[in-house]
Amino acid sequence: MPSFDTLPSADGLWTGLTGLDGQPCAIAVQGGQIAWTGAPDAVPAGHAALPQHAGQGALVTPGLVDCHTHLVYGGQRANEFAMRLAGASYEEVAQAGGGIVSSVRATREATEEELFASASARLQSLLAEGVCAIEIKSGYGLALEHERKQLRVARRLATAHGVTVRTTFLGAHALPPEYVGRSGDYIDLVCREMLPALHAEGLVDAVDVFCERIAFSLAETEQVFRAAQALGIPVKLHAEQLSDMGGAALAARYGALSCDHIEHLSQEGIDAMAAAGTVAVLLPGAYYTLRDTQLPPIAALRAAGVPMAVSTDHNPGTSPALSLLLMANMACTLFRLTVPEAIAGITTHAARALGLQATHGAIAAGMPANFVLWKLQDAAELAYWFGQRPVRCVVRQGRIAEG
Ligand code: NIG
Ligand code: FE
Repeated sequence: MPSFDTLPSADGLWTGLTGLDGQPCAIAVQGGQIAWTGAPDAVPAGHAALPQHAGQGALVTPGLVDCHTHLVYGGQRANEFAMRLAGASYEEVAQAGGGIVSSVRATREATEEELFASASARLQSLLAEGVCAIEIKSGYGLALEHERKQLRVARRLATAHGVTVRTTFLGAHALPPEYVGRSGDYIDLVCREMLPALHAEGLVDAVDVFCERIAFSLAETEQVFRAAQALGIPVKLHAEQLSDMGGAALAARYGALSCDHIEHLSQEGIDAMAAAGTVAVLLPGAYYTLRDTQLPPIAALRAAGVPMAVSTDHNPGTSPALSLLLMANMACTLFRLTVPEAIAGITTHAARALGLQATHGAIAAGMPANFVLWKLQDAAELAYWFGQRPVRCVVRQGRIAEG
């Protein structure tokens, strides 16, 4: 892998581009930042003399943002796929000692180097499809040293690949085997030792909890949120995936960046999210893999004006997906999002779910240069094709990174 710093600079005037609105556009990049964007006949004199990159009519979008992933883990769980095909549910697999805890075993056994290598390979698939910013959660270590190992890998991936990474501490993902029957003790450990230590090491951009009957209760979730709030760290939540726990309303009270999954979200939860400006993160890969039949309340979210993001939820249990465009397609096909909603879901709203709306998810002057040129004419094609990678070129953090 060539070092990111040796990739060609994207500085110059990008012309012959077609925007998402179908109109011709141009982008001036200087010092790795977007200096200007607008109609090709309105290029300011100062930018007209820059070296030119010819887009030849390519559709251009902001760099994609994958706002919910569990990218760093050991092993894989194809055996559970087989168990579910034979009739077991996700909860039954978890209760039989599989599920998250089985990835915890494999992640604890893996070295930092091994985790870096496997996550790096997965990240490359996402980057090749235009991802320029990604969230990476811990949650397969469930002990300080192993959560640290995961988060350190996430930070290293950012440097090695020149991609924006937001780390999320998900120590409250599942009860580790050594704490069975002592959930309260484990949550105390998460709040009093793990979170403060990892925060002090600069490894935590946000805090997440899996609030579910097979994971942590509403009261335990609130305890973790309080610990995060005391340290000034934003929160998000795996909420109402398998049942309505009231997690979304709680998260909204803590000003959560996002509530994710939300198949069983109630109107009360929707109203609380709308009032708090919390993003709804839709995860059609997990819905599909688990053959869920409870659709997230899309029409009610839309009516309430809750911004909807779409993400891979890449993880070895419920969403072994490495294509954000496929998730956009599934968000349309399975959840009935419109194409503009799906595109906003993997760009601007996804950036907002990470608190990155000032710098990512849009093509705007002053933002770092992150954009994708596609071998496509029509914006709807982004969500229409699946199983191909219609990327012509990716500009990531001011460099021509793919294509
Ligand atoms: O987002 N729901 C909880 N966490 C993951 C699944 C993790 C796993 O099964 O390993 C999710 O779907
Ligand atoms: Fe998840």
